[in-house]
Amino acid sequence: MEKKALIDHLNQDLSGELQAVIQYLTYSAKVTGPWRPQLVTFMQTELQDELLHAQFLADKIVALGGDPTTRARPVPAADTPQEMLKAILAAELQAGKDYTQRAEQADAFGDKGLAVQLEDMVRDETHHAEETAKLLKNWD
Ligand SMILES: [Fe+2]
Ligand SMILES: [Fe+2]
Repeated sequence: MEKKALIDHLNQDLSGELQAVIQYLTYSAKVTGPWRPQLVTFMQTELQDELLHAQFLADKIVALGGDPTTRARPVPAADTPQEMLKAILAAELQAGKDYTQRAEQADAFGDKGLAVQLEDMVRDETHHAEETAKLLKNWD
């Protein structure tokens, strides 16, 4: 894989992380109902992970000679906790898929450090997705 193509892909990932940061921030402000305290804690904890992912990607893009995007993917509108959790689950599953592919591309590019970091991020996103799926289960 060419360096330019890898940088472009990492910038798409960064857009996704910026979306995740905005998504967790706004959803945690908006979420209502009896589970609000738990959901706020959950979302704000996830937000810190996404912020670290975004920071890593921005730093790496610059290290590779690129320019980190400031554009976030659009955050889906959601009003109920279930709508929010479904939108979160979709984003987390997408991130896990994207980083799995990106780790392989980083390996093919010959940057083992990047590949290892991206694999760590696959683990984080898989954990986020599994926790979100558990929250969505048996919801009355
Ligand atoms: Fe992330
Ligand atoms: Fe995540």
